[in-house]
Amino acid sequence: MTPRSALLNVMTRAVDKAARALKRDFGEVEQLQVSTKGPSDFVSNADLKSERILREELAKARPGYAFLAEESGATAGTDAEHRWIIDPLDGTTNFLHGLPHFCISVGLEKAGEIVAGVIYDPIKDEMFLAEKGGGAFLNDRRLRVSARKNLGESLLATGIPFRGHGDTTDFKRQLDFAMNETAGVRRLGAAALDLAYVAAGRYEGFWEEGLSPWDVAAGILLVREAGGYVSDLKGGQNMLHGGTILASNGLLHAPLQAALKPH
Ligand code: IPD
Ligand code: CA
Ligand code: CA
Repeated sequence: MTPRSALLNVMTRAVDKAARALKRDFGEVEQLQVSTKGPSDFVSNADLKSERILREELAKARPGYAFLAEESGATAGTDAEHRWIIDPLDGTTNFLHGLPHFCISVGLEKAGEIVAGVIYDPIKDEMFLAEKGGGAFLNDRRLRVSARKNLGESLLATGIPFRGHGDTTDFKRQLDFAMNETAGVRRLGAAALDLAYVAAGRYEGFWEEGLSPWDVAAGILLVREAGGYVSDLKGGQNMLHGGTILASNGLLHAPLQAALKPH
């Protein structure tokens, strides 16, 4: 058992509590698929409930930290340095359709830099953790990015643009490259887990456009702490607020970035 820092304990405790509520609600949502009204109101409530629990628990343990959360937006804190960046339910479309692939993502920013991240998939019971300088973990196992350096053997993940998210022209060109040059592309529908999977060596790379800070905050640190590299699609470091991301095992970053960069 790897000893966890006090900070990671605070984060995992909050995430666990919110995840218990989400998991109960997911059980209900599976039943609601056949109702005429559909489960959307129910799901937005599940989302809000998860965020409320996370905020309550984190504020109790670290009073004064600011928040940037998907549902409630930015809330200033009395602490000028620290800010939680929260996605209370990443993979909402999956959740809404009864597809068991979603997570909670919590990152901690200190003076503009991500210093801790937790991503939890309650269905698979996979808790991804990272703290700056302390490595990345899946439950209690140390994570390393994959060692594959051949593009032809690499498995990539992405997010397919949908109504109002992402540029479809760019995407078609990117997909064309990936279809021709790699071993395959996955679109599982939860960006935070896509990043965690790069950290875990399951994917050699992940790219997406149209993302928000809460989709990527925790995942960026996980990939870095697992030995990978993260940039925006132009090769710069504006992933948190710029909306685009490319995460890789590092070895394949240059060829991926060259092929995927937006026109
Ligand atoms: C979405 C998921 C999805 C990605 C979207 C995100 P949400 O987050 O991460 O994989 O393609 O761009 O908005 O809405 O489920 O929290
Ligand atoms: Ca999200
Ligand atoms: Ca969300």
